[in-house]
Amino acid sequence: MSEFFSRAAPNPLRGAIRVPADKSITHRALMLAPLLNGKTRIENFLDSETTRATLNCMRAMGADIQEIDAHTLRVHGRGLRSLQEPRDVLYCLGSGTTIRLLSGICAGQHFLSVLDGTPALKRRPMGRIVEPLKQMGATILARDNDRFPPLVFRGGALRGIEYALPVASAQVKSAILFAGLFADSPTTVHEPAPSRDHTERMLRALGVDVSRLTENSARVVPPQRLETRDWSLGIPADFSSAAFFIVAALLVKNSELCLENVGLNPGRIGLFDALTRMGATFKIENQRAENDEPVGDIIVSSGELRASDVGGSDVPRMIDEFPIFAVAATQAVGETRVRDAQELRIKESDRVATVAQELRKMGAQLEEQEDGFVIAGPTKLRGARVNSHNDHRLAMSLAVAGVIAEGETIIEGWECVADSFPNFGEMLLQVSR
Ligand code: S3P
Repeated sequence: MSEFFSRAAPNPLRGAIRVPADKSITHRALMLAPLLNGKTRIENFLDSETTRATLNCMRAMGADIQEIDAHTLRVHGRGLRSLQEPRDVLYCLGSGTTIRLLSGICAGQHFLSVLDGTPALKRRPMGRIVEPLKQMGATILARDNDRFPPLVFRGGALRGIEYALPVASAQVKSAILFAGLFADSPTTVHEPAPSRDHTERMLRALGVDVSRLTENSARVVPPQRLETRDWSLGIPADFSSAAFFIVAALLVKNSELCLENVGLNPGRIGLFDALTRMGATFKIENQRAENDEPVGDIIVSSGELRASDVGGSDVPRMIDEFPIFAVAATQAVGETRVRDAQELRIKESDRVATVAQELRKMGAQLEEQEDGFVIAGPTKLRGARVNSHNDHRLAMSLAVAGVIAEGETIIEGWECVADSFPNFGEMLLQVSR
């Protein structure tokens, strides 16, 4: 188990940095490019543990994915129905995105596939995808009453459905839309609140008829084939990775940091809205659209924060940012409440419990609630020995907490940052040097 030592930043954070590529978009590109008739060049893909898991699973089903260099992949797509029965279990590691999105694809294949992963993944709930995919006609078996991995698929011959998700989830929505590509009629998904729509945007960019019926509803018409053309996809930097530096720059006095080429999908940037309500100001420069995704450079300067509430439809739009948001809230004046965020309990760790437990070791005043937290601030944090609980976003949030704390913070279980941001430690040292 490796450790990371985080210390108070000796200087303001300054300069321009480029955080790694978007994890959500990389997973989707790796799954869709092999289903095209034609070649795809994927530039600036995220090379991390979880995206490698997707890449290996797709290769195990016969996808031809070549690594041109450290940042570029070439995929020879052989068509919508070109995948083959894998000889072994498709090992999704600890990646919820891999297992859930891939389930949508496996549900549509006329062969047997088994999806499994680490002990932590075996504890993540899968009933939420098993149920709609069964309604579409797939045969699926899963452990413990069809609720947990491993998942066994004997797919094919799907029918389109109309399905209302009980909880907003881009993973579940995407699994259903992917399965909808293989169905005999259109499929419609409704969500209680909008979540990230990378899947819809990417399918549309590939010529698939995906319409947005309302803000919270998407409908996919199954295509005969995915258009033959050479597709070139440049993946922007991941907003969820940028979030750690956004908060670090806000909290370390006299900082001004530019985060270049960051994806600004409206379903991802709830943290902006929450921090803006708390008094933060951001500048976005070079705003543009790339492959139908909004992208820009974010300029963030340090400032004072005041407490605010977060809940309702804010939650899915910042679902991965609550650990780092909690760090920001420890420095805000007053009581910040996070509500309606029960989903945090079933992420890479139970993030309500682990965030509270670890930040309290550093002196934070943080009270755990069933569906979120109450955080009182501002509190001067102090360095401590803390643990990542094998959760990459918690590990990186604790490192940022270490940068504003007095003394040294030692984060145990640091290796999990490789799930989404393998060089985070070096980048944090680089900007705070
Ligand atoms: C993701 C969706 C979110 C997020 C995860 C990635 C995606 O999960 O937490 O890190 O790529 O679709 P849920 O859909 O379960 O909220």
